[in-house]
Amino acid sequence: MESKRLAGEKAVDFVEEGMVLGLGTGSTVYFTLVRLAERVKQGLNIKGVPTSIETERIARHLGIPLVNSGEAGKIDVAIDGADAIDSHFTLIKGGGGALLREKMIALAADRFIVVADPGKFVTDLTHVNLPVEIIPFARELTEIHVKGLGCTTRLRMKDNKPFITDNGNFILDCSFSEIIEPNDLQMKLNRIPGVVENGLFAGLADQIITVDHSGKAAVLE
Ligand code: A5P
Repeated sequence: MESKRLAGEKAVDFVEEGMVLGLGTGSTVYFTLVRLAERVKQGLNIKGVPTSIETERIARHLGIPLVNSGEAGKIDVAIDGADAIDSHFTLIKGGGGALLREKMIALAADRFIVVADPGKFVTDLTHVNLPVEIIPFARELTEIHVKGLGCTTRLRMKDNKPFITDNGNFILDCSFSEIIEPNDLQMKLNRIPGVVENGLFAGLADQIITVDHSGKAAVLE
C-alpha cells in the first residue's frame, strides 16, 4: 500500500495550474486524488474528467472540480493505474472493469502518466488476465470468437451475477497462451462483433511512476 501511495502521490508533481486531467480508476490513483484534492484546497485550479462512476464519486467527495469530456475541450494529462506493465510500457488494464472509459481518456490526453507499484511489472504479458468488455446480447457467440484467438475465457461475476460495467456491459476475463503482438491482438479482439474494447494499452503510456529499490518514487520514460 505504501508503494501505491508514493507512486500515486508523485504523479501530482506533474500537474500544473489550469490543466484538465483525466482521472483514472483504482487503488493507486486513489492516492493521486487525495493529493490532488489537497492541492486544490491550497488554491490549485484544475478540472478532472473521471474514468468511472467510482472515481467520480471519490473526486466529488474530495472536492475536486469535475467536467465531462465535452466541456473539457482537451485533456492535458491523464493519470491512471495498471494491472500489468511490460518492458515496452504496454499495459493490461481493466481489473476494476473501467477499461473502456480509461482507454478513451488515455487516448484523448496529450500525456498519459501511469502510476503503479513495482509488483505490476512483468517480463511477458502472456497469461496475465486480459479483460475484454462485451455487450450482453448473445455473449456466448462473442465468447466463441474471442476464444478462437487462442485464449480461455471466464465471464466476470459479482454476487453470483455477471459483473456489469459502468456502460452496462459484461467483462470476459481472458487468459491467452501467448501475447506476442499486443497491437495485432487488440485489433483482432476489437474487430469481433460484440466486443466493445479490450484491456491492452499499447503505445499509450508516456511515463510510468513507480517505486525504486530504495523505496523512493521513480519516474520511468
Ligand atoms: C480499472 O479498471 C483498472 O484498469 C485499474 O486502473 C487497474 O486495475 C489498477 O488498479 P490498482 O491501482 O488498484 O492496482
